[in-house]
Amino acid sequence: MKTLIINIKKLVQIEKAPRTWVAGKDMAQLSSIDNAWLLVEDDKIAAFGEMKELDKASVCSGGDTIKEIDATGRLLLPSYCDSHTHLVYAGSREVEYIDKIRGLSYEEIARRGGGILNSAERIRQASEEELYDAAYDRVQEIAGYGTGAVEIKSGYGLDTDSELKMLRVIRRLKQETPLLIKSTFLGAHAVPAEYKGRQTDYVDLIINEMIPMVAAEELADYIDVFCDKGFFTVEDTDRMLNAGMKYGMRAKIHANELDYSGGIQVGVKYDALSVDHLEYVGDEEIACLLGSETMPTVLPGAAFFLNMPYSPVRQMIDAGLPVALASDYNPGSSPSGNMKFIMSLGCINYKMLPEEVINATTINSAYAMGVQEEVGSIAVGKLANFYLTKPVPGIEYLPYAYTADLVETVFLRGEQLQF
Ligand code: NIG
Ligand code: FE
Repeated sequence: MKTLIINIKKLVQIEKAPRTWVAGKDMAQLSSIDNAWLLVEDDKIAAFGEMKELDKASVCSGGDTIKEIDATGRLLLPSYCDSHTHLVYAGSREVEYIDKIRGLSYEEIARRGGGILNSAERIRQASEEELYDAAYDRVQEIAGYGTGAVEIKSGYGLDTDSELKMLRVIRRLKQETPLLIKSTFLGAHAVPAEYKGRQTDYVDLIINEMIPMVAAEELADYIDVFCDKGFFTVEDTDRMLNAGMKYGMRAKIHANELDYSGGIQVGVKYDALSVDHLEYVGDEEIACLLGSETMPTVLPGAAFFLNMPYSPVRQMIDAGLPVALASDYNPGSSPSGNMKFIMSLGCINYKMLPEEVINATTINSAYAMGVQEEVGSIAVGKLANFYLTKPVPGIEYLPYAYTADLVETVFLRGEQLQF
């Protein structure tokens, strides 16, 4: 099956030679073709080029049926890669939203049993089927926003059975939805109520029981730890990442959201794929990240929703680092998986240019979830995961029109989605 898309106003984020990520000044560069065509064959991008060079006879050779789409006035972009979400959850937490409006901090809410522990209660009570249905709807929702790859974490179970239950839901989403999905084991999201005052015992449970069982069922691609003030220490994190590494789980960690926690340093020590949040980043953290293979990942939705200090993204990019952006879709700190809004927040609150936020939500966030060879750009041989916009003036219009739904047509694995 072939699909030929013609008269594309701008084909954005094309790649002739594969790149690992884009960093520093290069983040402000995007390769694009004006007035372009793109050919999809089965689930892959087969070819693309300028309209004036389109040789229809050769594209149509082989007697295949070809579907043609006229994209006049539309932009074509690679799907967003959302490299950090917690979209498997039960219920919602608008009560805490009101607490926050009344002045309680995230840490205060967590200390009195709200926050992550509130979600843990509900996950434990929910059946796998209920969790799957709710998560499936969220995956459909983000696909409609233009997301084509997503990383999903456990971390609301906080006991062995409930963590495994969450990870099985993610496995089923991998099998039954067309998005490219990676799963992350986040047993160390918070210390559950029954281990209060016995944090080390809970870390032991993660190391001795949870990690081996998760690995035995091959349920997780990565391992995460919330390494921050009031949550897990650098020493705890070191032990858990070391245990995960023995089972082939690379680290992707929550770090430096609430303080200069040392999370970035321990992440880099274990060659983490990404360190995420990064509200507290100074010269030492930047120096540690430079020369590493770890993608600094910023979650503008959480900082916006919780009214937290903003990560020094400009300083990081100006120092030559790459930066990825992700949604952190979860019921407590970021109840939205809308990556276009994340781009707007990147521009407005972090002073990133439109080109920089597009790089941060495609090629760089693809790296941050280990899928940069399959998605993240328009390149021959990559998965045909992309979207066409409604008619718009140009790429800058996407983050500028910060609540407009501008996605018109979505392709995932070469198939046009029907909504
Ligand atoms: O990434 N910071 C830690 N974990 C989540 C919040 C989860 C929650 O509040 O439910 C985050 O923001
Ligand atoms: Fe998170």
